[in-house]
Amino acid sequence: MSPSENSDKASCQTGSKTSFQKSGPSRRSFLATSAAASAVATMVHSSTARADDKLELRMGIVGCGGRGRGALEDSLSINDGVKVVAAADLYAKQCNYTRTILGRKFPDKIDIADDRIYEGLDAYKRILDDKTIDVVLLTTSPGFRPFHLVEAVDAGKHIFAEKPSCVDPAGYRMCLKAHEKAEANNTAIVTGTQYRRQVNYMGAVEQIRKGAIGEVINAVTRYCSTPIWFKNREEGMSDAEYQMFNWMHFIWLSGDQIVEQAVHNIDAMNWVMDGPPVSAYGCGGRFTRPEGSEMWDSMCIDYEYPNNRTVSFMCRQIPQTQVDNGNVIYGSEGICYIGAMSNGSRITDRKGNEIWKMEGSIGAAYQQEHKDLIDSIRSGKPIVELKQTADSSLTAVMGRLAAYTGQRVTWDFVTKESQLDLFPKDLTWESSLPPAKHAVPGSTKLV
Ligand SMILES: NC(=O)c1ccc[n+]([C@@H]2O[C@H](COP(=O)([O-])OP(=O)(O)OC[C@H]3O[C@@H](n4cnc5c(N)ncnc54)[C@H](O)[C@@H]3O)[C@@H](O)[C@H]2O)c1
Repeated sequence: MSPSENSDKASCQTGSKTSFQKSGPSRRSFLATSAAASAVATMVHSSTARADDKLELRMGIVGCGGRGRGALEDSLSINDGVKVVAAADLYAKQCNYTRTILGRKFPDKIDIADDRIYEGLDAYKRILDDKTIDVVLLTTSPGFRPFHLVEAVDAGKHIFAEKPSCVDPAGYRMCLKAHEKAEANNTAIVTGTQYRRQVNYMGAVEQIRKGAIGEVINAVTRYCSTPIWFKNREEGMSDAEYQMFNWMHFIWLSGDQIVEQAVHNIDAMNWVMDGPPVSAYGCGGRFTRPEGSEMWDSMCIDYEYPNNRTVSFMCRQIPQTQVDNGNVIYGSEGICYIGAMSNGSRITDRKGNEIWKMEGSIGAAYQQEHKDLIDSIRSGKPIVELKQTADSSLTAVMGRLAAYTGQRVTWDFVTKESQLDLFPKDLTWESSLPPAKHAVPGSTKLV
């Protein structure tokens, strides 16, 4: 939805639209600031201290776009005793629209007063500052996620955070710190990798672990989908506003298709292979993206996993090409097919005879992650699963770097050496930013 599409004019809290950090610190000093602030602000909610299966939980959302609304709907559909009391977005109209749409469907669970709608780059801070809020949903474009995660953990919130967790190694390291601190604080972080909660995915991985296909030798995973939206610049938009508005096409915000979208399948592969790969080597390019996009539209990566197992990965968003989204795992005694979305799983022996199958619904999985989050808080044993999703996000980043540079890229390099930090320094609403520039293998350097 474009900012001009929604005319809901309810009042909101503004005044912070212009700066991400008033003093404009670098990413590193931002982290230090957050850490210092946490010494004062860390407050583990009473909700974490004891088990209480009737505990009423108050929620706030940061990022009221398509998935933000979807995630809220999933949570409110499956959880009782929860109430949404605040919403933040770059644009108040997004919050108002969310309140209107979900308020109709869940009149008893949406209670967002006008003065609890916040807009601007710092709007999320108003939600984190609100000590009456127990749970926050972090559903903005991905580039902001590590910052929001670190600060939300520091504020003592329980968190649902959409995938991907990060778009570069600097963000990955922030996620690891957030994960550790949430564990120490006994606060939850559940992530939007819904396939981990989809019954036919879980069933397939269980079968593989039990030896149904023998030893896992290699796998193929594809996320070849339909083209994605592109938003034109509107009059009066600064560079920063335009890039945040058209976020998919700027790598500092989306990470490119492999990170933003195909991380789902990469996560499934890390799950099957029981950890991240050792290295990535690959290629790709762009044939159909608009001039003002940094994204590639096709990428093929070979991921090498421990014990000489290879995953062949492919993603594509090109009009009029064949859609193919799913995973095939080849074992010494059988083959496991896991169709993405709600396409089910099945296992055959090496001759093609079906020996196992299971159906599963992605809709149910989307809801299950929110049930697990709330149940874990009420049980006093909050789930903290950020590292797993950050690992998968970095695996996707590693593949992107291999394709962009034409080099083999190792897990050791991205976790320990890479200095890549894509987030613009001193970001404000009015920032001038470089125009879109896409990678060219051979001249794009590995940093
Ligand atoms: N799990 C899934 O299957 C799934 C599906 C779709 C999207 N997603 C993920 O959800 C996230 C959001 O995607 P979407 O499709 O809803 O995008 P969207 O553009 O529809 O919504 C993003 C919203 O966040 C707001 N926003 C951006 N930066 C912000 C900031 N710094 N502070 C506050 N608000 C900010 C935007 O104004 C917008 O309203 C992405 O990470 C995407 O990858 C996950």
